[in-house]
Amino acid sequence: MTGPRLGVLSSGKGSNLRNLFLRGYRVSAVGTNRPSCGAAAFARQQGLRLGEFSQRRYPSSLARDEALSSWLLQVGVDVVVNAGYDRILGEPMTKAFAGRMLNIHPSLLPSFGGGMDAVERALQHGVKITGCTVHLVTKAVDAGPILVQAAVPVLPGDDTQRLLQRIQAEEHRILPQAIDLLWARLGGSPQIVQETTVV
Ligand code: GRF
Repeated sequence: MTGPRLGVLSSGKGSNLRNLFLRGYRVSAVGTNRPSCGAAAFARQQGLRLGEFSQRRYPSSLARDEALSSWLLQVGVDVVVNAGYDRILGEPMTKAFAGRMLNIHPSLLPSFGGGMDAVERALQHGVKITGCTVHLVTKAVDAGPILVQAAVPVLPGDDTQRLLQRIQAEEHRILPQAIDLLWARLGGSPQIVQETTVV
């Protein structure tokens, strides 16, 4: 298997993790702060290396991020993919993986950044076009350099679920593209991306 060894971080249902795995990306580690989430269940089911970093195990968020970062370094991941991880990553992570950590966000940044409710806010604001963004993670939340974006129209009658479903179909297309782009920039060789989308 070629391509970067990925460390995928998730706190949620894990559709992006599943999509990467099913497209043949090399998922070397899955990190979660919510051991009962869908992504963790998928990792267990597929026999992927799973690291559980619940906040209650650590005295501070700094200690939690230090443990997460040491684990990912020890595993030897090349690229960290933040796919629905619901904690802001602090310096132990942003320093150790500077330039090789991605985040996927369900809006066209810089609109509706910073927060978990980007889709609701876009709807409430009445925008006609929204989408998703993959960017490099820096200290500033949702503000690192943008690698790939996709636009998604807001349709009459959309609610959060319907809109999110269409945004996620685009996420599943552009996250692999962004990984390939970053890996090529880092001097690796790009994966062959299959044209299937798993929602
Ligand atoms: C995605 O919509 C992503 O943009 C956001 O969290 C969600 C994760 O979805 N940061 P999933 O758990 O991969 O299905």
